[in-house]
Amino acid sequence: MSEEKTAVAPGAETEGGITSSYAVDDGVQLKVPYSFFGSIYGEEERQAAWEAMQQDTLTMGPQVATFQREFAAMCGVKHAFAVTNCTTAMHVATQVFGIGPGDEVIVTPNTFIATSLVILKEGGRPVYADIDPVTFNIDPEDVARKVTPRTKAIYVVHYGGQMCDMEPIMEIARQHGLFVLEDCAHAPGAFICPPECPKPDLDCPLEPRQPCKRRMAGAVGDVGCFSFHSLKNMTTCGEGGMITTNRDDFVDAIEKLRCMNLQHWPDQKDYWIPSHFDVVDVNGRWGNNYRMNEVQAAVGRAQLRRLHELNRRRREIGRRITAGIEGIPGITPTREAPYAYHVYHLYTLCVEEEELGASRDDFMRVLYREEGVQGILHYQPTYHFTGLKKLGYADNLCPVAEEFFYRREINLPMHPRLTDREIEDMISGIRNAAEKVRKR
Ligand SMILES: Cc1ncc(COP(=O)(O)O)c(C=O)c1O
Repeated sequence: MSEEKTAVAPGAETEGGITSSYAVDDGVQLKVPYSFFGSIYGEEERQAAWEAMQQDTLTMGPQVATFQREFAAMCGVKHAFAVTNCTTAMHVATQVFGIGPGDEVIVTPNTFIATSLVILKEGGRPVYADIDPVTFNIDPEDVARKVTPRTKAIYVVHYGGQMCDMEPIMEIARQHGLFVLEDCAHAPGAFICPPECPKPDLDCPLEPRQPCKRRMAGAVGDVGCFSFHSLKNMTTCGEGGMITTNRDDFVDAIEKLRCMNLQHWPDQKDYWIPSHFDVVDVNGRWGNNYRMNEVQAAVGRAQLRRLHELNRRRREIGRRITAGIEGIPGITPTREAPYAYHVYHLYTLCVEEEELGASRDDFMRVLYREEGVQGILHYQPTYHFTGLKKLGYADNLCPVAEEFFYRREINLPMHPRLTDREIEDMISGIRNAAEKVRKR
């Protein structure tokens, strides 16, 4: 990696994907860009992709079947279904829950649009519950306040790679008979532990005295939905997703909705009689082609074997940043909840403007323009988007989420390939920027 980069990083040419907005041509010399740290793949993925490409079957074959089994085992769930991405995973789940017009789904506003989009697509109404100011995950107390007789489900997001406090959420769901969807786009390999656990870690400190009681992301709610998009903790050639569930009664519906409502005839005589396949609705719902291909699954299997190592590196980087910026007045590092094993999809720091003596935007501008460290904001409260405003959402539904997005947060570059130099540049950049804005 060269010492300094312009804000348009090599390889940043895009067709308008999400990352295109990070690559701005404003002449800033970057020391640490937000994205574009090079391929995460190595020899294992190259070999896996090439071998899959020689197979007879290039979609929904042995690689997909094995990837699903291995992913289910990693999460500790009974079933996993590979799909094209996390949005389609959540769409299938929304259809399986039978969400439709008149139904409300309680959801966090601090998420990518996909989490609400799938509710809207089926005619349901997202109802926004505010977030916790420390973990930035949905606040169970506000979830409880938002339940009405029309509520059908709760959709949570494990923001940044740290799981939500699931127990109170599951309790609300049990009390009111609601489905729970975990949006695990940021959290493959993340988990939570019960209060008796001294410190959640991969090597369980309780074992072998007692069996580890950790709950993996995707194994707590009715359904978990994962993303293997290019920027995620594990990736399958740029796009990909997985649905996880322990619900045997969902298996048939998920399989049909993932693959165009196809099923075998119950009384198949020869393979062409009465015909190759039948088509049935799923409680009046029509599915789609959301299948994953074999090359993606083969690469996903290789990535899965490296997931814990990749997550460990993210944790190590996250903790180094925290140690480096701890104690700067007005800067709050990422806080790990005592019950959670954080996998640092994002590193989020907060600016406390009164303490810093400057606004988040002033700090971010200096950090970017003068220190060459590119931050990104995730997420604008979903109900502030033009399309949702048209549906009549009020402006200040979730004050904590609004303060978080508009005044407090910055996401720093976070990637397993960050070099020591880049980590040090980030830390000194934050220290210098805080010092500079305080004096101005
Ligand atoms: C929280 C969250 N949910 C869902 C998605 C959608 O994932 P995908 O791009 O795989 O559809 C994303 C993607 O960035 C995300 O961050």
